[in-house]
Amino acid sequence: MTLLAIETSCDETSVAVVQDGGVLANVVASQVKLHKEYGGVVPELASREHLRNIHAVAHEAMRRAGVKPQDVEYLASTQGPGLPSALMIGFQAAQTMAFVLGKPFYGINHHEAHLYSPWIKGTPPRACFEEFRPSVSLIVSGGHTILAHVRAEQEHVVLGSTVDDAAGECFDKIAKLIGLPYPGGPCLDRLAANGNSSAHLFPRPLMQVASDDFSFSGLKTAVRYFLRDHPDVLESASGIRDLCASAQAAIVDVLVTKTLRAARRLGVGCVTASGGVTCNRLLRTKLENECCEHGLELRLANQEYCTDNAGMVGILAERKILRNVPATELSVEINPYWALDD
Ligand code: KG4
Ligand code: ZN
Repeated sequence: MTLLAIETSCDETSVAVVQDGGVLANVVASQVKLHKEYGGVVPELASREHLRNIHAVAHEAMRRAGVKPQDVEYLASTQGPGLPSALMIGFQAAQTMAFVLGKPFYGINHHEAHLYSPWIKGTPPRACFEEFRPSVSLIVSGGHTILAHVRAEQEHVVLGSTVDDAAGECFDKIAKLIGLPYPGGPCLDRLAANGNSSAHLFPRPLMQVASDDFSFSGLKTAVRYFLRDHPDVLESASGIRDLCASAQAAIVDVLVTKTLRAARRLGVGCVTASGGVTCNRLLRTKLENECCEHGLELRLANQEYCTDNAGMVGILAERKILRNVPATELSVEINPYWALDD
């Protein structure tokens, strides 16, 4: 089975070719440079850039995979959630290809694609979906923080999610307060590596409460007030590094503590993590250590599948086809607010 998948929910234009459980090509054109001067994603610019890039990215994915449009048997695209004008470009492109080629089309939930991305192992052209196991899954990105119980493949319940800012948003906003360039998360991660995480004690919101929900806006505000009262911290490189390390430790503590607690409570043997924030080195290390200590298997999404990409969209679409899930009508539209448990 040969499938072409498209992802344009935010600021990455991505096209992948998936064949028989393997990702043959996963091409991502990032718009980071375009949005850098605005300090965040500008939806109108994002959609124009998707439009500009989509054909070239699709051609490149097919070239790398060694397939031609007429070889494509199925089309898939992210249907939501995401920025409406950005989603529309990839969704329309995939629907148009499906219409012209007369092939079935699948609209895919972006979170659900992240949820299964830890099960894609290796890199194209030798990446493949490995045997799945029930898990507690953390999805952490710029727009969402979700904890889900995946009881069986494509059978999941949302345990909790953020009540305000997402973890990635918290990284990005704190980085902005410190004066770091966009996107702040990776930059803060690099500086924190050489800082003292015990230099400042920031709150761990909702960490000790029984709920599986998250909250990060109070932590961002705590850093803001800290900087108002201690502006001198930003005057030295070591002061900045310590601040980054202390803020990062608070975010990661909350994510790891709540994920492990849910896994133990539900008695699952496996924990997975996916989404852009899973690139964070402290989060990866802490999850590894804690899972090892509690005898839990850990599956972290490969770096290539952490941030937004069409490979994960294609793999999930293929799993749905194998389970005889009906195709999506071509008259169906994007769903920018499509929740994971809808
Ligand atoms: O999944 P993703 O590419 O896009 C969304 O669906 O939001 O995630 C992007 C988010 C951004 O907030 C970015 O700052 C964060 O992931 N991120 C990181 C790191 N790499 C990316 N946050 C912390 N440390 C990192 N190394
Ligand atoms: Zn995402």
